[in-house]
Amino acid sequence: MADNIKTIGVLTSGGDAPGMNAAIRAVTRSAIKAGFKVKGIRRGYAGLLDEDIVSFNTRSVADIINRGGTILYTARCMEFMYEEGQQKAVKILKKHGIDALVVIGGDGSYRGARALARLGVKVIGIPATIDLDIASSDYTIGFDTAINTAMEAIDKIRDTSTSHERVSIIEVMGRHAGYIALWSGIACGAENILIPEMYDYNEKKLIDQIIKLRKIGKKHHIIINAEGIGNSMDMAKRIEAATGLETRACILGYLQRGGTPTCKDRVYASIMGARAVHLLSQGMTGRIIAHSGGVFTDYDIETALEMKKEIHPDFMTVGSELVRFD
Ligand code: ADP
Ligand code: F6P
Repeated sequence: MADNIKTIGVLTSGGDAPGMNAAIRAVTRSAIKAGFKVKGIRRGYAGLLDEDIVSFNTRSVADIINRGGTILYTARCMEFMYEEGQQKAVKILKKHGIDALVVIGGDGSYRGARALARLGVKVIGIPATIDLDIASSDYTIGFDTAINTAMEAIDKIRDTSTSHERVSIIEVMGRHAGYIALWSGIACGAENILIPEMYDYNEKKLIDQIIKLRKIGKKHHIIINAEGIGNSMDMAKRIEAATGLETRACILGYLQRGGTPTCKDRVYASIMGARAVHLLSQGMTGRIIAHSGGVFTDYDIETALEMKKEIHPDFMTVGSELVRFD
């Protein structure tokens, strides 16, 4: 055990993601097994500043591996964006005897963790967001569950869309990223996938395609919009006016963030949680866990936050052959 760490704090931050509970459980149980004490910090950085902190034992994380959401709750916290809030957090961690912190969250939460690391706090980050928009990792906790949830929902909408011979726009989450749209759209055989990384905003081209495909006998036309491209309801009205075809938009919304985590999300979250504790045991801090190039690994947090992520070329090939991205 790292001789200068006695107690590890764990928090979840940013948008919740299915599998966060599995990560909390893995951090807690691995840490206790390694001889550390564990404190759960509720409501992310907001709860840290409010000193909403509870002691955890192995039973605190019983019966949660199969549950969506996060038993620690989560939040977004403006106060923590500023150095004054971050300095306050450092004092609170000291006051509660928390020697190291595991932050389970997305890119924004990592930036918060980096700020703490720069102030001398021992931190480890675990990637958790349904958006998959963390550059340093090919996998983020919750994405697998979210795309499966979206896929099932889109399949259902497709049934009714075909029956009514409608055009359907289905908007999925992802903030500024298009990964949920990309995966669920390919899996459902969508006619178009519109993502911020690739959409050229040429609606005339889109409308011409809809008319062309209708003429060759298509009974439905499914368009998957990533939320980052704009207002799907307004787009539906414009498409209906231009094509004369009944067009409906459906925003899948928060159902994509909830639900029981898939096997992959539970297992990967468990491995990542355990790895976070192993790093601390070995005296390593200021690192984030990743799954990259097919293996679990970890990076320096400063390096990780400089990384850039691009859509893999294989997706472009599928795009040109099976589906239209614009
Ligand atoms: P996610 O972690 O899912 O990307 P957010 O971007 O909302 O979610 O970030 C979660 C929280 O992390 C924010 O509410 C804020 O408290 C903290 N945070 C985000 N960006 C920064 C930053 N640049 N510096 C310090 N803290 C940040
Ligand atoms: O980051 C996860 C996410 O669900 C994004 O896909 C979405 O843009 C955002 O969070 C919604 O955040 P809120 O819960 O604040 O509405």
